[in-house]
Amino acid sequence: MGGRSRQPKVLAFRCYAASHRSLTMVVWCLAALVMVVNFHLLLVHKEDEDTRVHEIHRSIVGELEKVEEEKFRVSPPRSRRNPRAVRRKGEQKPPSVVDEFLDESSSVHAMFFPERKMAIDPKNDGNDSVYFYYPGRVWLDTAGNPIQAHGGGVIYDEKSETYFWYGENKDGKTYKAHSKGADRCVQGALMRAYNFPAVLDSVYEAQLPGDMLQVCSVRKVDIVGVSCYSSKDLWTWRNEGVVLRGEEKNATHDLHKSNVLERPKVIYNDRTGKYVMWMHIDDTNYTKASVGVAISNSPTGPFSYLYSKRPHDCESRDMTIFKDDNGKAYLIYSSEDNSELHIGQLTDDYLDVTNNMRRFLIAQHREAPALFKYDGTYYMITSGCTGWAPNTALAHAATSVMGPWETLGNPCVGGNDIFRSTTFFSQSTFVLPIPGLSGSFIFMADRWNPSELRDSRYLWLPLTVGGLPDEAADYSFMFPLWSRVSIYWHRRWRLPEGWRES
Ligand code: DGJ
Repeated sequence: MGGRSRQPKVLAFRCYAASHRSLTMVVWCLAALVMVVNFHLLLVHKEDEDTRVHEIHRSIVGELEKVEEEKFRVSPPRSRRNPRAVRRKGEQKPPSVVDEFLDESSSVHAMFFPERKMAIDPKNDGNDSVYFYYPGRVWLDTAGNPIQAHGGGVIYDEKSETYFWYGENKDGKTYKAHSKGADRCVQGALMRAYNFPAVLDSVYEAQLPGDMLQVCSVRKVDIVGVSCYSSKDLWTWRNEGVVLRGEEKNATHDLHKSNVLERPKVIYNDRTGKYVMWMHIDDTNYTKASVGVAISNSPTGPFSYLYSKRPHDCESRDMTIFKDDNGKAYLIYSSEDNSELHIGQLTDDYLDVTNNMRRFLIAQHREAPALFKYDGTYYMITSGCTGWAPNTALAHAATSVMGPWETLGNPCVGGNDIFRSTTFFSQSTFVLPIPGLSGSFIFMADRWNPSELRDSRYLWLPLTVGGLPDEAADYSFMFPLWSRVSIYWHRRWRLPEGWRES
């Protein structure tokens, strides 16, 4: 019995062992199958995602080609999204053109910042590009270096019969002012006083309750200083050097390299014979919100820095100055968390503001003001407040420089919808009257490159005043008082032949 009974036990054990082995095999096979299927699904998903991103690129590029009249090479997207992350977060909205424009890893971004070999190069004269402006291309000075004059403005100096272009020298490393911030946005308890209230609403749609906001990380460059370039023809620019230098050592100085110096503008005071520079002075967090003043005996400096202040005891961020035909000058600045603009008359020596100040475009959130005058009427171009991201320009007009100011609508003409609604992917900085060509101006703007601010590009485009405005004035049913302001998109253009001889 014992022997008989042992055999089946062994058999049973063998059977059990065999069935266990096959069960294990089946489990392993199933596991492998699941892994293969999963891997396949991942691959398919990744391919789908890549195709989707590629399609989006293709359609954006198609749109842009219509505007640029040039074939862009569309390479597959460089940064691929992790499919697991996509699954975790769920499908996201496809990136907008502005997202792509801002994303340095996007091929769309690269199209907006063509390589240096496409530069406007005054040394390369004798070819058919001479005197042509190519908005968005690298612009070289007479020494062959890219012009560093961002957020700038131009004056014509009667004494030397020369144009001088002043602007921010951003030829330093771009970094995130808040190092803990994520690449695009930093979540933090930053107040509305920060420079980017409207970014959230219009670009990133990431508003937190109350006054606590999710704010785009501030990309900045240490203060290098204000550059000056000279020209007789508004096309060939000679570098006159840094005419107001950043401060290396003294950390309490307004111009200490860790601070912010933006949008410098210069006017000449006929009474004192001085060149006076006004600029936006701030700390890294944009909470100082002040203007700075500097002075020089010569257009090419050096400028001596005098002081900074909050004009009329108000915050002042983006700003410009304007000198009227009668010699009176004005400071125009974004204030009250950038929600409104202020205009204040300067003292006769242009070194301070008087108490004469008016608020305008209240609750409109405008910045980057550029003021000019035509035929007795004052005009201004402004941008919305979206940090370094482009947005829609507006033109405004007034019969008195102190206001009231009326909004005329978007001045951008030509290109396509995307171009017109983003000021051709740029932001206003100055409007330059062209002597001898009444009613013709050059609109100067910056195409900011937030990931490499020194490589931000210049857009110079023709601006004219004439015809009826797009939008009726707010308060009047009468015949419109204002003319239309038009800024025309051109991939390539130049001032009329003979202008330089006039
Ligand atoms: C927009 C302003 O117009 C620029 O001058 C600069 O201050 C950026 N914001 C900073 O994000």
